[in-house]
Amino acid sequence: MYQERVLSGMRPTGRLHLGHYHGVLKNWVKLQSEYPCLFFVADWHALTTAYDETETIERNTWEMIIDWLAAGIDPSQATMFIQSRVPEHAELHLLLSMMTPIGWLERVPTYKDQQERLEHKELSTYGFLGYPLLQAADILIYRANRVPVGEDQVPHIEFSREIARRFNHLYGREPNFEEKAREAVKKLGAKRARLYEELRVRYQQEGDKQALERGHALLEETQNLSLGDRERLFGYLEGQVKMILVEPEALLTEASRMPGLDGQKMSKSYNNTITLRENAESVTKKIRTMQTDPARVRRTDPGEPERCPVWQFHLVYSDEGTRQWVQQGCRSAGIGCIECKHPVIDAVLKEQEPMHERAQRYLDDPTLVRNIVADGCERARKLAQETMRDVREAMGLNYT
Ligand code: TRP
Ligand code: SF4
Repeated sequence: MYQERVLSGMRPTGRLHLGHYHGVLKNWVKLQSEYPCLFFVADWHALTTAYDETETIERNTWEMIIDWLAAGIDPSQATMFIQSRVPEHAELHLLLSMMTPIGWLERVPTYKDQQERLEHKELSTYGFLGYPLLQAADILIYRANRVPVGEDQVPHIEFSREIARRFNHLYGREPNFEEKAREAVKKLGAKRARLYEELRVRYQQEGDKQALERGHALLEETQNLSLGDRERLFGYLEGQVKMILVEPEALLTEASRMPGLDGQKMSKSYNNTITLRENAESVTKKIRTMQTDPARVRRTDPGEPERCPVWQFHLVYSDEGTRQWVQQGCRSAGIGCIECKHPVIDAVLKEQEPMHERAQRYLDDPTLVRNIVADGCERARKLAQETMRDVREAMGLNYT
């Protein structure tokens, strides 16, 4: 019924690194040519934990958007926007909050996990508890059916599905639907009404498909029904609710194999990153000084790639031939570590070249970025407004 749509968001953490590129952005770039895509900066989500350090949010947002563009997100294909510039998200979040049991939120695994992880911070807040509900609103407001996320976010997508289901169940019918449907049944005339009721019960309680078909036939051949009554009777027969909000599905993004400079996961908090737009000199220096197999103290000591973070980089960047050269050369002490690092340095620099080029245009002319985002916000807002019209109507809040 609704078209395919991809949506994903990131909190504005500032400069992105190669881990983000190989884990997330490369996948977004692929998706943008396959589906209509919406990518947004979740700045309100940043506030759920950083409510006391707001001065960096705006700068981080612009930096991150430039990184998206540098990575190849194409504004003529994908819609890029900022969450707080589409205030409809907040309206849907509020309306959904009325029907969201607190227990559902408390049971989302990230809630307790994050609270424990960020122990030093007061996170017994209303907003933090509501994090997954705000995320549900982000998704449901665009009727996005596919949401590319990492494994850690899967519970949030599940939660969004439950919220959509609950909403449709509660409001996916016109007010007084049952009453109106029963009135319409009477209009069938006593004999047909009795048959209709019997078929309806047989289908809904026993799942009798034949009863459903006969019910359809009965309605088809009944002439003097208004369009509204006809629809009601079909809906009542099938026990159907209208799908106002679409249940999304997670498009699981494979975990990035991109290690950090020390072999741990690449992460800003481990201080082991190469940023997306890091200058060539710094990239070269970082890789040159990277740890290698600790057993290879001297050039003449043989090494073992499995114990070396540089090998992890070869797994991301090198072809089969180079990998064999590394394995043999390392284990026989035939090559030195600096030599071994050269192809990695070259590959990273080559990967970054087009990113620097794309970013430069936007750094030279920041109004370009502002315009892309303004356009994106406008497009997103139109879609959000359409859904909100249906949502308000379903909830009896359209005041026409
Ligand atoms: N919670 C997500 C994260 O931390 C960010 C996010 C916010 C998001 N709203 C979203 C992701 C909607 C996908 C869809 O990564
Ligand atoms: Fe690591 Fe390469 Fe040195 Fe072997 S030769 S220890 S794989 S850097």
